[in-house]
Formats: sequence, C-alpha cells, structure tokens
Amino acid sequence: RTVGQSLKHESAHLHVSGKANYTDDIPQREGTLHAAIGISTRAHAKIKAMDLSAVKAAEGVIAVITLDDVPGDKYLGPFLHDEPIFADEEVLYYGQPVFAVAATSHDLARRAAKLAKIEYEDLPAILTAQAAAEAKAYVLPPVHIKRGNVEEKLANAKHRVTGVFDLGGQEQFYLEGQIAYALPGEDGDMHVYTSTQHPSEMQFMVAHALGQHVHTVKAECRRMGGGFGGKETQSWVFAVIAALLARKTGKPVKLRADRDDDMMITGKRHDFQILYDIAHDDDGRIQGLKIEYRLRCGFSADLSGPVGDRAIFHTDNAYYLDEFDILSIRGKTNTQSNTAFRGFGGPQGIIAIEYMIDTIARKLGKDPLDVRKINFYGKTDRNVTPYQMTVEDNVIHELVAELEETSEYRKRRQEVNEFNAKNKILKKGLALVPVKFGISFTATQFNQAGALLHVYTDGSVMINHGGTEMGQGLNTKVAQVVAEELGLSIDRVRVSATDTSKVPNTSATAASTGTDLNGKAAQDACVKVKEKLAAFAAERYGCKPEEVRFADNHVYAGNEKIAFEEFVKIAYTARVPLWSSGFYRTPKIHYDFKTLTGRPFFYFAYGASVSEVIIDTLTGESRLLRADVLHDVGSSLNPAIDIGQVEGGFIQGAGWLTTEELWWNKDGKLMTHAPSTYKIPSVSDVPAQFNTRLYANSNKEDSIYHSKAVGEPPLPLGMSVFLALRDAVAAVDDSGRAVPPLMAPATAEAILKAVEAVKAAK
Ligand code: MTE
Ligand code: MOS
Repeated sequence: RTVGQSLKHESAHLHVSGKANYTDDIPQREGTLHAAIGISTRAHAKIKAMDLSAVKAAEGVIAVITLDDVPGDKYLGPFLHDEPIFADEEVLYYGQPVFAVAATSHDLARRAAKLAKIEYEDLPAILTAQAAAEAKAYVLPPVHIKRGNVEEKLANAKHRVTGVFDLGGQEQFYLEGQIAYALPGEDGDMHVYTSTQHPSEMQFMVAHALGQHVHTVKAECRRMGGGFGGKETQSWVFAVIAALLARKTGKPVKLRADRDDDMMITGKRHDFQILYDIAHDDDGRIQGLKIEYRLRCGFSADLSGPVGDRAIFHTDNAYYLDEFDILSIRGKTNTQSNTAFRGFGGPQGIIAIEYMIDTIARKLGKDPLDVRKINFYGKTDRNVTPYQMTVEDNVIHELVAELEETSEYRKRRQEVNEFNAKNKILKKGLALVPVKFGISFTATQFNQAGALLHVYTDGSVMINHGGTEMGQGLNTKVAQVVAEELGLSIDRVRVSATDTSKVPNTSATAASTGTDLNGKAAQDACVKVKEKLAAFAAERYGCKPEEVRFADNHVYAGNEKIAFEEFVKIAYTARVPLWSSGFYRTPKIHYDFKTLTGRPFFYFAYGASVSEVIIDTLTGESRLLRADVLHDVGSSLNPAIDIGQVEGGFIQGAGWLTTEELWWNKDGKLMTHAPSTYKIPSVSDVPAQFNTRLYANSNKEDSIYHSKAVGEPPLPLGMSVFLALRDAVAAVDDSGRAVPPLMAPATAEAILKAVEAVKAAK
C-alpha cells in the first residue's frame, strides 16, 4: 500500500537542495521587464494632483500605468467587485497601489516608483474594528443569529460574566513573497506564472482586467513557498498588474513584491474586538450567551463575508450552546483588506469561546478543563449546533480524556501550583484546550474538483488536478491515491504543475479541502481508466472484468500476471484510451447563507493540546516549556506529512497569539511591515518537549480513504499557549480567583500589563 505510508514530500529532495523551482526561478525570456508598484502614503484622501513625469523620465523606465490604462474591468474582487486595480481618484488605505512601473531591472523599477509627486487632500479615516462598528461603516451588512431568549437568561442569571476581548490579526508571512511573471503570446494570449492558491481566479481576473475572454489567459503554478490563505485572492494584485504591463509593453513582465511592499499592500488575518455577555450556572455550564464580533475588514469586502461566517460557525467549538445571540459586524476600515488566513475566521470564533470559558472557570475558582468538559457536546443529545447541524462524529470526550492522561495534566497542574507557591517572580501556567473544526467550503458550490490522468505507454503516469501545492503535501497525497488505485509504486506517478488549461473552473486550494476534493477527483479518473483497462483485459485473457486487479506494478487477469508497462502497451495497440478526466463533488452538504443554517460541513476534525509556560512577572517575558498535541486526521493518508501539518499549525497559532503583533500608527501606516519588527516564531520558540500524536480514528464519512483534512484545524490548538500564559498571570494573585485582562497577542508588553492589572486588583 502507498496510502497510509509516511512517504516523503514529493519535492523534499528539491526543497532541501535548493533545486525546487518557484515562480522567481523560471528562466527569464529575452527582453523581460521588471515591475514595481507605487503605493499610497495616506490612509484616506482625495488625490488632488498626480505628477508621474519624474517616474516616466527615470532611468530604465519603459511604461507607467494607472487606472486609466486598464482596458477591461477597472474594479475586481472575489465576490463584490469593490476593489479598484489602482486608486480611483481617492486612496482608501496607506499602501494602496496607485500606479505601476515597468523598467529594465527590478532595482530601477523600484527606484522610479519612489519619484511620484502626489498631492493629497486628507479625509477622515476609520482605522479600527471598534471605530468601524461605532460609525456603522460596513463592507457587508451585519449578520445576526439567535436561538431562545438570551436577554431573559442574562437578566435572571445567578452568574453572569461580561467583557471585551481584543484579538489581534496575523500576517501570513509566506516565505516566498507575492510574485507573478506575465508572458504575452500571439493573438492576445497571456500566460501568467503566479504564486497563487487559486489559479482559476487569477485567470479570470487577468482576463477581466484585459477585457478578453478567459480562454486567452493561462495561469500556472508549480508550487508556492507558502500561502497560508494570503494567496487565495490577493495574489491577483500582482498577476493582474504584471499582465497589464505586459499587454502595454508587449514584453514579458515580472512583478516580485519586496517584503515590505507585500506587507503594506496585502491583507492579513482579521483582528476582532469581541464583546461577550454570558449566563452560567454554579458548575460553569453556559445557559445563554451573547456575543458581538467586530471585524476589521479593511477597505473592501474580499473574503470578509465567509471569514465572518466561519467565526460564527466556530463559536460553539466543542460545546453545546442552547441559547445564543451572535452578531457579526464586518467593519469597513481604511487599512489593508483583510483576507483568508489558515482557519479563515474559525480560530477567532474558537478562541472567543475558550476565552469566555476560561473566564467563567477563573471566577468560579475551578480548573478550566472541568468547565470545558461540562459544556462538551453530548454524543446523542445536546448535539445540535447553532446552525442546526447535528454533530454525528463527536470524539471530543475520548480524545481529551486520552490527552489528559498521556500529558499527565492533573499531576502537572499540581506541580505548577507548587512551583507558583514557591516562586514570587517566575510563574508557570498550564492549559488544555479542545478543537472541533468544520470541513468544507461554506459556499457549497466550491466543493467540487477535477483531475486529469494520463497513462503513458511506458507505464508511467501523470496526474494533474485543480489544487495547488504550497508545502502542505497535497501533491504527495494525490500521487499516493493514484499509485494506490493503479497498484503502482509511487515513483511511477508524477504530479504536474497546476494549469488552468488542464482543469477548468477550479476552486481555491483552501478551507483544508485540497486532498478531500482533488484526491477524490484523481481517484475518479483512475477508476474510469481502470474500467476501460479491466474490460479490455477481461476480453483478452478470458476472465470477468471484476477479476482484473492492479497491484505491485502488475495487472492480474484471471491466471495471467502482466507487468503494468507491458499491459498498457498492448492496450494502446488495441486502441484502448489510456487517459481520463475525473470529477468529485462533496455529498450531503447544503447551507442557507441568509439564515446561516444547514449542513455547511461534511464532517468535523478534532484535536486537543496542552501547553505549559513560564513567565517573568518583572519583564513580561515568556517561554513555552512543553506542548502535547493529540489530533484527529481520520485514517491518515501520510502520517509524516500530517504530523508536520499539526506541528506547523500549532506553532503558527501560538505565534498569532503571542509574538506576532500588527501595529498601525495614528496615520494608519502599518509600522510592523518587515521581520525586523514583526516577529513570527522561530526554531527556538518550539518547545524543548513537543509531543505530537495522531488520534486513532477513521472518518465516518466517505472521504478519500476515510482520512480527514489537516491543513487548518491544528492552528487553533496554539491557543493553549495563550491560555497557559493567562493562567501564569493569574498566579500572581494566590487567591486563585484572579481574571487577568490579557489581550492577544500576549507580547511581553501585554503580559506585563496584565500582571500589573492583577496586582492592582488584589
Ligand atoms: N502548509 C504549508 N506548509 N504551507 C501553507 O501555505 N497553508 C494552510 C495549510 N497548510 C499552508 C499549509 C492553509 S491556509 C490551508 S487552507 C491548507 O494548508 C490548504 O491545503 P490543503 O487543503 O491541501 O490542506
Ligand atoms: Mo486556507 S485560509 O483556507 O487558504
């Protein structure tokens, strides 16, 4: 079997030897020009005058374009077409593209872009989620869902907790920055190499901007050096501008964003302001809950609708909520347009409820784990989500119990308490959190995929599918599926670059559905080819088609055993087709986006993590000492890749909630726009003890080999680090009842602030 094996990533040998080709490694064609984008230096202003003469006159400059030079649609966007390709008389955020330059070198283009003289007339700017909510400035109308009479529950509650939780955003920080290389071809054709999770969308947007049919444009991506959601929609800025300049000059144009420009131009994970009001009983069981989510969406809608919805869909996390009232406000701000980031709003919804449960437990003087357990979804009752979907695959009780045991949670809780009793300055903290994460695109139509399988006459196989490879191992898993289906060893199967001319109208590789969708589509293509081959073998060797088997690089037909390569040669000679397309659509799902009810998810992935931290109460510095993670990937297609995803997701989630701070100054300029000031986790942030295991489970639903999606669900597990930090801060007050007002990210500054607040409240 190839499925279920820890095979290496199909490009691992290329990654580690520096031989893997990324978009920037594609050999440049003769005459290639290089582009740079001129960006706005105001958060919100009218452009009174724009003088680009110095830009045009600069050394090496071949062309300069603004919105007026766009031959087709001037406004683009994934759902609403509310984003001008370049500023349209008015700038809407500090960093917005205003014009672009093509020059003979990358350096000359960047220097020229700095020479623009733009006269602005400042307009009032809205910069934060709170300010947008107060001004009722929305990119999309608010969404409100409720069940029961929460007001009454709150009014009559014996216990009630209210508060505000400020939750920061996160930069995707893909190692390979945004890049596109556009090659104009004959008769209006445009071939765009783009580092994107969504080649079809890049193809459509380039075609719209050029005012051409989609069939004139080809988008291609062999691999990305990371995407993390940041290349789901927003790679269009680079693909479209490169293509516009290529059209204008008739030359190939490469647009490679500098890291600072990339961070200034593109959107991030939405930061939220979360207002909560909860009624609960003596044990901490939630009786009614009211939440207001205020999102900083930025200047346009982009994916803020589905991100906001997914936050609502994950507010329950692993808990049954009987009565609730959830309001989601999609605030329009004069900042980058926030977008997808691993988990897509889900992590924000999950940490909201975990923060509230943690608060309840602290007020009651209980271990937060016990309050969590009391609120868990039931197996047969208390199992209907706020969006009316019944949770049928609940393993949270067993999974958490197992982790509690293997991590020695109770014993370590005791040890942490003892440590804290003895130490005045250093304090330890511990937290165990569960995660339940819904799998599928909430927009039902995106849950489809196509594949194209070619068997060549030497017995080697090429598979193409609509998904993209960003390091997550999708191509490896799809190759495993194909090898398994055709009974071939993995070296016989190759996955080619994602290319819109091979599989059309693809969905983004997102929502963790890459393998679920494309694996099934590839399987379907294999089944179709096998049917033809089996019918042929049955006829030729005198057996039934059901008696034909494909295994060990051979074909078994009745009593015959023929090498696969020999058999396909014979089949070719007999004019049997050796290739097929494949298609898949996820069954069972449906969802009404007006009421937010239905079955938006095919199934759930589960996980839990425990973190132990230490803080210095004089400096606010912290360390993660140990982490234990238990995660459910169903029947793993590739345990090595899955563990990599779980560990990476956990650390990325921990980074979001600890060191990664996005900070805009009062003029709306993002000041943390490079690794010098924006701190992602590094190797030394990985805890010395890091125990990651896969939970023994199988997907109840008919997913590809009963595996489960793994890309995003582990990210929210990183919140155990944040809640352990809150636990450590609480230990500053030895009454055991302190409720630290720790906000995310828990930087040294934030921890120190919370320590001071707890001391002051003593
Ligand atoms: N892993 C790596 N190495 N690089 C990435 O960019 N993106 C994440 C996750 N894991 C990412 C990653 C995100 S946001 C998603 S949605 C999934 O991978 C997408 O891939 P999949 O659907 O094939 O899991
Ligand atoms: Mo992932 S945020 O769905 O690209």
